[in-house]
Formats: sequence, structure tokens, C-alpha cells
Amino acid sequence: MNKITSIDSNSILKDALSLMNKDGYGVCYVLQKNKLVGMMTDGDIRRSLLNGISLTDKVKKVMNKNFFSLPLGTSTKKIQSSLEKYKFIPIINEQGELVSTVNNKSYHNIPLVQPLFNGNEKKYLTECIETGWISSQGSFVSKFEKIFSEYSSSPNTLAVSNGTSALHLAICALGIGKGDEVIIPDFTFAAVINAVIYSGAKPIIIDVNRDDMTIDSSLIEKNITKKTKAIIAVHLYGYSSDMQKIMKIAKKHKLYVIEDCAEALGTFYKGKHVGTEGDAATFSFFGNKTISTGEGGMLQFKRKKHLNLAKKLRDHGMSQNKRYWHEEIGFNYRLTNLQSAVGVAQMERIDFFVKRKREIAKTYDSYLSAFDKLSLPKDGKYIKNSYWLYTVLLDESISIYRDKIISFLTKSDIEVRPTFNPLHKMPPYIKYKPKNPLSNSVSFSKRGISLPTSINMTKEEIQFVCDRLVMAIHRCIN
Ligand SMILES: Cc1ncc(COP(=O)(O)O)c(C=O)c1O
Repeated sequence: MNKITSIDSNSILKDALSLMNKDGYGVCYVLQKNKLVGMMTDGDIRRSLLNGISLTDKVKKVMNKNFFSLPLGTSTKKIQSSLEKYKFIPIINEQGELVSTVNNKSYHNIPLVQPLFNGNEKKYLTECIETGWISSQGSFVSKFEKIFSEYSSSPNTLAVSNGTSALHLAICALGIGKGDEVIIPDFTFAAVINAVIYSGAKPIIIDVNRDDMTIDSSLIEKNITKKTKAIIAVHLYGYSSDMQKIMKIAKKHKLYVIEDCAEALGTFYKGKHVGTEGDAATFSFFGNKTISTGEGGMLQFKRKKHLNLAKKLRDHGMSQNKRYWHEEIGFNYRLTNLQSAVGVAQMERIDFFVKRKREIAKTYDSYLSAFDKLSLPKDGKYIKNSYWLYTVLLDESISIYRDKIISFLTKSDIEVRPTFNPLHKMPPYIKYKPKNPLSNSVSFSKRGISLPTSINMTKEEIQFVCDRLVMAIHRCIN
């Protein structure tokens, strides 16, 4: 899986040069029976040609035999300090075999996800400041709603302060509250259960599917009671829930469906953007999301009447026709013009962002697919994954090493994230723990690692993450 540029010591210089040309680093490691015996740069070859060496001469004539290397297991601190002196460092095992390489281009802190603000963000923000429209009134709010609506093909769209307020507002606008029950997955971010509790309704926690981490639709019907009003389907890590099955059950039992798309902007189910099947859909624009406005969210409804009520509730329950006349106990869940300005600029580049996420996933796949100790995220039969966070699952047999692997990666300056904890195990939610076991959720919570998935990640950074991940696993199991 390691794409290190290496060549046998009996090869000729021309072959070494063409290999170096492909990888772009300009360095080649020379091997003899798998052992590292030398290394050379394209500069070394150039100088030797000037000194009369020919391209058909063997690489061992030119290679540098007195190279600097570090043993497998060297601390990050030592590697970093060595990189101040050496541009390329091979990492070798006890047998003298080349297992990895580091270089001063790839060896830096790799964040989990970084927003990318190199479109019109600055220009639109300046416009807000220069015109004085900085709060929640101003043209960017409706522009953001419009551009978002067009992208997701959903007409009734409302910008809100974050993904959690979007969920809370969705539940309230659908008329769900005290005495009602809402079915939710156990394996998700806590905002989902919090929003249900805020509304006064009772969360009914069920397990997720064994193969894709989203709500297990085969458990929904068993959990429906006279009090059930809605199901929240969370589209996790960029993958969609099985909306066909969920919608069928919801229709049969006259339940609302809320799609939590916080992690799934750019995900398509049966060719339609997620959020368009259910009665309501919610999105988050937190700093780590596919588009970001710092904090921010979007709420969409199938029906206009729900949108109208949510609009009122978003703004303290104030009448849309009579100012300072409050018809409901509402909230301040408005998004500012400043945040919306950033949102518009981000949405102008959404196709590029999603394309990049999918390319990053493909690159990860190419390095990791041969490795049988990992399950990788994928597209589904009807699902085009947006790979918000490329989340791998360790094989059950090595799941006990998950936290050790995370710690190894962290020490290598790679920011990774463990998967969510099961809701039913955390103190505020223990009282909602169901009688039946939630074994898939528990298993995913122990086995998952989300890898860096920033839009502007380079191929070399992805390779470095993969090298370190595989190295960490080998170190744990050997
Ligand atoms: C699945 C899910 N739902 C809801 C939210 C809440 O969004 P926010 O942080 O914008 O309130 C998040 C945020 O991380 C999320 O991942």
C-alpha cells in the first residue's frame, strides 16, 4: 500500500529518473533484496550526468550509501527535529527494510477538517460591514436560503442559528411536544436527543444497522406506540439512511420524518438530495461541516404551513404581519447576515467541495482497500455518499487497540476522531436506555476512527495518514 518510490540497485538510472518524475518528490530509495542500501535525488543524478555517468549506468553507481535513516517507532519529536536537517528520511525496521518515509513537505500537522474560505467570503463580508447590515436582517439571509434551496431542490428553506436549533425548530413546527414520543438512533451526535428533550417529547432510542451505522428501520415498527409522532433519520458521516423503508413505515403509521442532514450536505439518495423525502430536514454549518458559516444551520419543510410556523418561532414567535405582536413562545434562532454572506460564498463552491470530498475518499480507498483489518466507507445501492468525514471501522478482533491507534496518530500530528458514543450510555440519557441491547451502536462506538477529510488535503497528506494508520495497527497487533 505504501507508494514510496523505490528501485532495485541493479536498475538503470533512466528508470529511476522516470519513477521520480511520476511521484513529484524527486527522491528514490534503492533496495537490495528488500533492504534499503541507498537513496538518491534527481539532483544527484543530474550532477553525475555532468560528471560523465550515463543514463544506462546502474543506480548503485550513483546512490548515496551513507544516508540518514530512523528506526520504526521513532518519536514524532525526534522525526520533526531530524527533518530540520534532512529533507527526506527513510524509516526502516530491524531487518533494515524500508517501511515508510517522511519528508519535510508531508510532515506537518494534518487537521481533521478545515474550512476553505478562498471564494467570495471576504468580499461578501466586507459588503455587510460597509453597508452596516450585520444582524439577521439583510439581503444575504434570503440569498443563502435561495441558493441552498436550489442546490438541494427543496422549496421551503429557512436559515437558522445552528443545526441543533434547526432540529428543535423542526420538532416544534411539526407540533411535537410533551406527551409525544420520537424515535431516534442510538449512534449519533447528542444534538439529536437534546432537541427532542428540549421540546418536551420523549426520545425512544433504537439501534443502528450493522453495515452502515444509520437507524435500523427493521426496529422502528416494534417501537411505535400511540404516542409516537416522528422518526429522526440521521444521515451519518455523509451516508444516507434507508429513506425508502423509513418513509414506508412513516406513511403506514402516519408519522413525521425529520432527516438530520448535518453531516450529509451533498449526499444523494436515489438521485435526489437528502432531506427531500422527509417532512423536515436539518443542516449544520459548524466549522467542521462540508460548508461552514462558523456556526449556522438550515431547516427545510415539505409543507409551507410548517415553514411559516417555524419562521415565526425562529423570531420570538412574532407575528409576520404585526411587529412586536407575539403569537407564540418562540426563540431567537436567526442566522446573521454576516454568517449568511459566508454561506452564499460557500454554496457558490459546493459542487467543488463535494467533488473534492469524493476524490479524497477515492484516494483513501486506493491506499487502504487492500488492508483487511479495516472496513471503509462507501456508496450505497441508492446512495451517493458525500464523505463528510472518511470514517473507517477496525475489525472486531483489533477494536481493543482503537484508542491506542488514535493516540499514535495524534502523536504523529494527525488529528483524528473516535466515532460517537452510544447515547444510552451517557449520564443525561441513561434514563432513556431501552430494554433491548444496542449492540451495533456499541460496536461502532468502539471501532470507528474518522480520518482527516479537509477539502484541500493533498494526495501526499492522505498517503501519510494511511501510512501512519497502518503502521499504528501493525505496532499494536505485533
Ligand atoms: C448529526 C448531527 N446533528 C446535529 C448537529 C448539530 O449541529 P450544530 O453543531 O450546528 O448545532 C450535528 C453537529 O455536529 C451533527 O453532527
